[in-house]
Amino acid sequence: MTHVLQIKNLHVSVGDKPILRGVNLSINHGETHALMGPNGSGKSTLGLAIMGHPGYAVTEGAITMDGEDVLAMAPDERARSGIFLAFQRPMAIPGVKMADFLRHATTNVRRPDRKEGEELIPMREFRAELKEKMAHLRMDTEFARRYVNDGFSGGEMKRAEILQLAMLQPKFAILDETDSGLDADAVRLASESIAEIGHGKMGLLIITHHDKLLEHNPPEFTHVMLGGRLVETGGTELADELHRHGYDRIRKAYPEAEAANQEMLAEEATV
Ligand SMILES: Nc1ncnc2c1ncn2[C@@H]1O[C@H](COP(=O)(O)OP(=O)(O)OP(=O)(O)O)[C@@H](O)[C@H]1O
Ligand SMILES: [Mg+2]
Repeated sequence: MTHVLQIKNLHVSVGDKPILRGVNLSINHGETHALMGPNGSGKSTLGLAIMGHPGYAVTEGAITMDGEDVLAMAPDERARSGIFLAFQRPMAIPGVKMADFLRHATTNVRRPDRKEGEELIPMREFRAELKEKMAHLRMDTEFARRYVNDGFSGGEMKRAEILQLAMLQPKFAILDETDSGLDADAVRLASESIAEIGHGKMGLLIITHHDKLLEHNPPEFTHVMLGGRLVETGGTELADELHRHGYDRIRKAYPEAEAANQEMLAEEATV
Protein backbone atom coordinates (compact mmCIF):
# COMPACT_ATOMS: atom_id res chain seq x y z
CA MET A 1 0.00 0.00 0.00
CA THR A 2 1.26 3.45 -0.84
CA HIS A 3 1.23 5.75 2.12
CA VAL A 4 -0.58 9.04 1.67
CA LEU A 5 -0.66 12.20 3.72
CA GLN A 6 -3.79 14.22 3.08
CA ILE A 7 -4.61 17.74 4.12
CA LYS A 8 -8.13 18.93 3.50
CA ASN A 9 -9.46 22.47 3.86
CA LEU A 10 -7.02 23.17 6.69
CA HIS A 11 -7.57 26.35 8.69
CA VAL A 12 -5.05 27.25 11.38
CA SER A 13 -4.91 30.16 13.81
CA VAL A 14 -2.26 31.41 16.20
CA GLY A 15 -4.11 32.94 19.10
CA ASP A 16 -7.03 34.65 17.41
CA LYS A 17 -5.07 35.39 14.26
CA PRO A 18 -6.12 33.25 11.29
CA ILE A 19 -3.12 32.13 9.22
CA LEU A 20 -3.99 29.13 7.06
CA ARG A 21 -7.28 29.64 5.25
CA GLY A 22 -8.19 26.38 3.58
CA VAL A 23 -5.12 24.40 2.51
CA ASN A 24 -5.61 21.28 0.38
CA LEU A 25 -2.63 19.06 -0.27
CA SER A 26 -2.09 15.38 -0.87
CA ILE A 27 1.35 13.78 -0.79
CA ASN A 28 1.97 10.21 -1.82
CA HIS A 29 4.90 8.22 -0.48
CA GLY A 30 7.78 8.54 -2.94
CA GLU A 31 6.72 11.95 -4.23
CA THR A 32 8.65 15.17 -3.82
CA HIS A 33 6.68 18.39 -3.42
CA ALA A 34 8.20 21.86 -3.27
CA LEU A 35 6.41 24.47 -1.20
CA MET A 36 7.24 28.04 -2.10
CA GLY A 37 5.70 31.40 -1.35
CA PRO A 38 6.68 34.82 -0.08
CA ASN A 39 7.72 35.50 3.52
CA GLY A 40 4.89 35.24 5.98
CA SER A 41 2.53 33.37 3.66
CA GLY A 42 2.10 30.45 6.07
CA LYS A 43 4.56 27.76 4.94
CA SER A 44 6.12 27.12 8.35
CA THR A 45 2.68 27.29 9.94
CA LEU A 46 1.60 24.38 7.73
CA GLY A 47 4.62 22.32 8.82
CA LEU A 48 4.08 23.08 12.50
CA ALA A 49 0.35 22.33 12.28
CA ILE A 50 1.03 18.97 10.60
CA MET A 51 3.45 18.14 13.43
CA GLY A 52 0.98 19.24 16.12
CA HIS A 53 2.69 22.29 17.62
CA PRO A 54 0.36 23.32 20.47
CA GLY A 55 0.50 27.02 19.53
CA TYR A 56 -1.08 26.36 16.14
CA ALA A 57 -4.77 25.63 16.51
CA VAL A 58 -6.60 23.80 13.76
CA THR A 59 -10.00 25.49 13.57
CA GLU A 60 -11.34 23.62 10.53
CA GLY A 61 -10.36 20.85 8.16
CA ALA A 62 -8.57 17.52 8.41
CA ILE A 63 -5.15 15.90 8.24
CA THR A 64 -4.98 12.16 7.69
CA MET A 65 -2.23 9.64 7.03
CA ASP A 66 -3.43 6.45 5.33
CA GLY A 67 -6.90 7.44 6.47
CA GLU A 68 -5.89 7.79 10.14
CA ASP A 69 -6.81 11.02 11.88
CA VAL A 70 -3.49 12.80 12.45
CA LEU A 71 -5.16 15.67 14.30
CA ALA A 72 -6.25 13.22 17.02
CA MET A 73 -2.61 12.25 17.66
CA ALA A 74 -0.20 13.92 20.09
CA PRO A 75 2.99 15.27 18.47
CA ASP A 76 5.06 12.28 19.59
CA GLU A 77 2.50 9.87 18.13
CA ARG A 78 2.73 11.73 14.85
CA ALA A 79 6.50 11.25 14.90
CA ARG A 80 6.14 7.56 15.77
CA SER A 81 3.68 7.09 12.97
CA GLY A 82 6.30 8.35 10.52
CA ILE A 83 5.90 12.11 10.13
CA PHE A 84 8.99 14.27 10.48
CA LEU A 85 9.58 18.02 10.49
CA ALA A 86 12.99 19.64 10.07
CA PHE A 87 12.48 22.99 11.76
CA GLN A 88 13.22 26.32 10.10
CA ARG A 89 14.52 27.40 13.49
CA PRO A 90 15.51 24.33 15.51
CA MET A 91 15.42 24.69 19.27
CA ALA A 92 18.36 24.10 21.54
CA ILE A 93 18.01 21.50 24.30
CA PRO A 94 20.88 22.26 26.68
CA GLY A 95 21.73 19.24 28.84
CA VAL A 96 20.60 16.67 26.25
CA LYS A 97 23.35 15.24 24.09
CA MET A 98 22.74 14.73 20.38
CA ALA A 99 23.57 11.02 20.63
CA ASP A 100 21.12 10.41 23.51
CA PHE A 101 18.41 12.43 21.82
CA LEU A 102 18.85 10.53 18.57
CA ARG A 103 18.99 7.14 20.31
CA HIS A 104 15.68 7.81 22.06
CA ALA A 105 14.02 9.27 18.99
CA THR A 106 15.25 6.49 16.71
CA THR A 107 14.16 3.76 19.12
CA ASN A 108 10.72 5.31 19.53
CA VAL A 109 10.17 5.64 15.81
CA ARG A 110 11.39 2.12 15.05
CA ARG A 111 9.41 0.61 17.90
CA PRO A 112 6.30 2.77 18.02
CA ASP A 113 4.77 0.69 20.84
CA ARG A 114 7.74 1.13 23.15
CA LYS A 115 6.81 2.42 26.60
CA GLU A 116 8.91 4.98 28.45
CA GLY A 117 11.65 3.19 30.39
CA GLU A 118 11.78 0.17 28.06
CA GLU A 119 15.03 -0.75 26.39
CA LEU A 120 16.64 1.40 23.73
CA ILE A 121 18.45 0.25 20.60
CA PRO A 122 21.65 -1.42 21.90
CA MET A 123 24.41 1.13 22.31
CA ARG A 124 26.98 -0.56 20.05
CA GLU A 125 24.52 -1.05 17.25
CA PHE A 126 23.29 2.52 17.52
CA ARG A 127 26.79 4.01 17.69
CA ALA A 128 27.91 2.14 14.59
CA GLU A 129 24.89 3.36 12.64
CA LEU A 130 25.23 6.93 13.87
CA LYS A 131 28.92 7.00 13.03
CA GLU A 132 28.27 5.78 9.53
CA LYS A 133 25.51 8.30 8.90
CA MET A 134 27.61 11.15 10.31
CA ALA A 135 30.55 10.23 8.12
CA HIS A 136 28.23 10.26 5.16
CA LEU A 137 27.10 13.78 6.06
CA ARG A 138 30.72 14.70 6.69
CA MET A 139 29.96 15.57 10.31
CA ASP A 140 32.59 15.33 13.00
CA THR A 141 31.73 12.55 15.50
CA GLU A 142 32.42 15.07 18.26
CA PHE A 143 29.08 16.58 17.26
CA ALA A 144 27.19 13.67 18.83
CA ARG A 145 28.62 14.56 22.24
CA ARG A 146 27.34 18.13 22.13
CA TYR A 147 24.01 19.28 23.51
CA VAL A 148 21.22 19.40 20.92
CA ASN A 149 21.60 22.59 18.89
CA ASP A 150 23.25 24.34 21.84
CA GLY A 151 25.68 26.82 20.39
CA PHE A 152 25.47 25.18 16.97
CA SER A 153 26.19 27.45 14.04
CA GLY A 154 23.31 28.00 11.63
CA GLY A 155 24.80 25.48 9.24
CA GLU A 156 25.45 22.90 11.99
CA MET A 157 21.82 23.08 13.08
CA LYS A 158 20.62 22.34 9.57
CA ARG A 159 23.01 19.43 9.26
CA ALA A 160 21.76 18.09 12.57
CA GLU A 161 18.23 18.15 11.14
CA ILE A 162 19.41 16.13 8.12
CA LEU A 163 21.11 13.66 10.45
CA GLN A 164 17.78 13.17 12.22
CA LEU A 165 16.12 12.59 8.86
CA ALA A 166 18.75 9.97 8.03
CA MET A 167 18.32 8.17 11.36
CA LEU A 168 14.54 8.32 11.58
CA GLN A 169 13.70 7.39 7.97
CA PRO A 170 10.18 8.79 8.21
CA LYS A 171 7.36 8.07 5.77
CA PHE A 172 6.79 11.78 5.29
CA ALA A 173 9.32 14.55 5.82
CA ILE A 174 8.70 18.27 5.82
CA LEU A 175 11.96 20.16 5.38
CA ASP A 176 11.49 23.80 6.32
CA GLU A 177 14.28 25.85 4.77
CA THR A 178 16.85 23.17 5.46
CA ASP A 179 19.09 25.15 3.10
CA SER A 180 18.99 28.44 4.98
CA GLY A 181 22.28 29.54 6.45
CA LEU A 182 24.30 26.91 4.62
CA ASP A 183 27.36 27.93 2.63
CA ALA A 184 27.64 26.97 -1.04
CA ASP A 185 29.42 23.65 -0.40
CA ALA A 186 27.18 22.72 2.51
CA VAL A 187 24.01 23.38 0.53
CA ARG A 188 25.21 21.11 -2.28
CA LEU A 189 26.01 18.39 0.25
CA ALA A 190 22.58 18.90 1.87
CA SER A 191 20.86 18.61 -1.49
CA GLU A 192 22.74 15.40 -2.33
CA SER A 193 22.20 13.93 1.13
CA ILE A 194 18.46 14.60 1.08
CA ALA A 195 18.25 13.04 -2.37
CA GLU A 196 20.07 9.96 -1.16
CA ILE A 197 18.12 9.63 2.07
CA GLY A 198 14.68 10.60 0.91
CA HIS A 199 14.09 11.34 -2.75
CA GLY A 200 11.69 8.71 -4.03
CA LYS A 201 11.86 6.87 -0.71
CA MET A 202 9.54 9.04 1.37
CA GLY A 203 6.98 11.71 0.77
CA LEU A 204 9.00 14.93 0.79
CA LEU A 205 7.65 18.44 1.27
CA ILE A 206 10.56 20.80 0.68
CA ILE A 207 9.96 24.38 1.79
CA THR A 208 12.56 26.60 0.19
CA HIS A 209 13.32 30.03 -1.24
CA HIS A 210 16.25 28.75 -3.29
CA ASP A 211 16.80 26.31 -6.11
CA LYS A 212 19.76 24.37 -4.74
CA LEU A 213 17.91 21.80 -2.60
CA LEU A 214 15.67 21.06 -5.55
CA GLU A 215 18.61 20.46 -7.88
CA HIS A 216 19.03 16.88 -6.70
CA ASN A 217 15.41 16.59 -5.61
CA PRO A 218 13.38 17.69 -8.62
CA PRO A 219 9.80 18.10 -7.40
CA GLU A 220 6.94 16.38 -9.20
CA PHE A 221 4.77 19.15 -7.77
CA THR A 222 5.46 22.75 -6.85
CA HIS A 223 2.90 24.58 -4.70
CA VAL A 224 2.75 28.30 -4.14
CA MET A 225 1.39 29.61 -0.86
CA LEU A 226 0.04 33.12 -0.57
CA GLY A 227 -2.06 34.53 2.25
CA GLY A 228 -2.44 31.11 3.90
CA ARG A 229 -3.71 29.32 0.78
CA LEU A 230 -2.11 27.23 -1.93
CA VAL A 231 -2.97 29.38 -4.90
CA GLU A 232 -1.15 27.47 -7.62
CA THR A 233 0.32 24.02 -8.23
CA GLY A 234 2.61 23.09 -11.09
CA GLY A 235 5.68 21.01 -11.76
CA THR A 236 9.40 21.74 -11.65
CA GLU A 237 8.93 24.50 -14.21
CA LEU A 238 6.85 26.51 -11.72
CA ALA A 239 9.68 26.41 -9.17
CA ASP A 240 12.07 27.54 -11.93
CA GLU A 241 9.80 30.42 -12.89
CA LEU A 242 9.51 31.63 -9.28
CA HIS A 243 13.27 31.41 -8.72
CA ARG A 244 13.85 33.42 -11.84
CA HIS A 245 11.06 35.97 -11.74
CA GLY A 246 9.80 36.12 -8.16
CA TYR A 247 6.18 36.42 -7.06
CA ASP A 248 4.91 39.43 -9.03
CA ARG A 249 2.81 37.35 -11.39
CA ILE A 250 1.33 35.34 -8.49
CA ARG A 251 0.54 38.41 -6.40
CA LYS A 252 -1.31 40.00 -9.33
CA ALA A 253 -3.14 36.83 -10.28
CA TYR A 254 -4.53 36.22 -6.78
CA PRO A 255 -5.43 39.63 -5.35
CA GLU A 256 -7.54 38.22 -2.50
CA ALA A 257 -4.74 35.99 -1.25
CA GLU A 258 -2.30 38.85 -1.71
CA ALA A 259 -4.51 41.08 0.45
CA ALA A 260 -4.62 38.40 3.15
CA ASN A 261 -0.83 38.08 2.98
CA GLN A 262 -0.37 41.83 3.39
CA GLU A 263 -2.84 41.85 6.26
CA MET A 264 -0.87 39.13 8.09
CA LEU A 265 2.38 41.01 7.60
CA ALA A 266 0.84 44.24 8.86
CA GLU A 267 -0.45 42.50 11.98
CA GLU A 268 2.96 41.04 12.55
CA ALA A 269 4.40 44.54 12.62
CA THR A 270 2.02 45.66 15.36
CA VAL A 271 2.52 42.66 17.69
N1 LIG B 1 3.85 31.87 16.88
C1 LIG B 1 3.39 32.90 16.16
N2 LIG B 1 2.98 34.04 16.77
C2 LIG B 1 2.49 35.09 16.05
N3 LIG B 1 2.38 35.08 14.72
C3 LIG B 1 2.78 33.98 14.05
C4 LIG B 1 3.30 32.83 14.75
N4 LIG B 1 3.60 31.89 13.84
C5 LIG B 1 3.29 32.42 12.64
N5 LIG B 1 2.79 33.66 12.77
C6 LIG B 1 2.40 34.57 11.69
O1 LIG B 1 1.78 33.82 10.66
C7 LIG B 1 2.17 34.31 9.38
C8 LIG B 1 2.80 33.17 8.62
O2 LIG B 1 4.05 32.82 9.22
P1 LIG B 1 4.93 31.61 8.73
O3 LIG B 1 6.09 31.51 9.62
O4 LIG B 1 4.07 30.40 8.58
O5 LIG B 1 5.37 32.13 7.28
P2 LIG B 1 6.40 31.50 6.22
O6 LIG B 1 5.64 31.36 4.95
O7 LIG B 1 7.03 30.30 6.79
O8 LIG B 1 7.46 32.69 6.04
P3 LIG B 1 9.07 32.66 5.81
O9 LIG B 1 9.26 32.41 4.34
O10 LIG B 1 9.49 34.03 6.19
O11 LIG B 1 9.65 31.59 6.67
C9 LIG B 1 3.13 35.48 9.64
O12 LIG B 1 2.40 36.68 9.56
C10 LIG B 1 3.60 35.22 11.06
O13 LIG B 1 3.94 36.40 11.75
MG1 LIG C 1 8.91 29.83 7.34
